Amino acid sequence: MIEIVARHFLTLGDLSPAELDGLLRRGIGQKSRKVSGPRPLSGRVLAMVFEKSSTRTRVSFETTMAQLGGTAIFLSVQDTQLSRGEPVEDMARVLSRMVDAIVVRTHGHDRLVRFAAHASVPVINGLTDRHHPCQLLADMQTYVEHRGPIAGRRVAWLGDGNNVCCSYIEAAGLYGFTLHLCCPPGYLPPPEVVEGGGAALRCFERPEEAVRGVHLVVTDVWASMGQEQEAEARRAVFLPYQVNEALMGLCDPGALFMHCLPAHRGEEVSAGVMDGPSSVVWDEAGNRLHAQKALLELLLR
Ligand code: CP
Ligand code: NVA
Repeated sequence: MIEIVARHFLTLGDLSPAELDGLLRRGIGQKSRKVSGPRPLSGRVLAMVFEKSSTRTRVSFETTMAQLGGTAIFLSVQDTQLSRGEPVEDMARVLSRMVDAIVVRTHGHDRLVRFAAHASVPVINGLTDRHHPCQLLADMQTYVEHRGPIAGRRVAWLGDGNNVCCSYIEAAGLYGFTLHLCCPPGYLPPPEVVEGGGAALRCFERPEEAVRGVHLVVTDVWASMGQEQEAEARRAVFLPYQVNEALMGLCDPGALFMHCLPAHRGEEVSAGVMDGPSSVVWDEAGNRLHAQKALLELLLR
């Protein structure tokens, strides 16, 4: 008997560059889909296991299922037996017998990997401490919609070497852009992630050098979910890495600004940049819906 192994999306690298390109095109195509159009996920059920807060990821997946004819079941950690110690391996086996796919937002990436190893339906990374691949699907779509192909472009990441940063490093090789990484000493991504960036990754010490001539500047909060206790100490270290008008002035004249949101104006980004003409953060957030429609159609077809 042939065992059917579910197709998971835990990091961007779970899809080939050709598949990512196809997803990007289908994500753009989702925008012209009529609300009264076909319901390709009719009867399908998506479970959403969330151990951290969310606005965009939750709403975009729930809306995807509603508009494509399926149903989403949101499971916050305190409402499930996970909060009373049920192992993720057991939950994965149980949910796999009831639903068609599972989105997991959790802390350690290893927890997601253990969940997926015991699931027989597709598991999607809705964010871990190490990766946020769904965000990159939306970011790449947003760049292409505004400026055309991202292959061959230069992108600067300023600030914390966090989960979104790690997914950007992975994206650079897969989508063919060069990533300029500029993080304070001690806040770089894990060494194995930096090494994995290969020739697509260039590290800079000074923000002014990192952004010079780039086509896209990206940043994120200085303290991610779970790092609230460090927020005060981090503010002083990260202030020189704030994306502001002066830094944007050093980029390519058509450079865009992106942020996965939620953002803190006056910290990682000035209000002028966040709400200014280079910023495409609202399109970026909206594209979570379209990109994830394409992703679910791929994984559930
Ligand atoms: N960008 C993002 O994932 O937002 P949420 O935390 O609101 O889902
Ligand atoms: N780095 C942020 C991303 C939120 C979408 C966090 O993990 O809190």
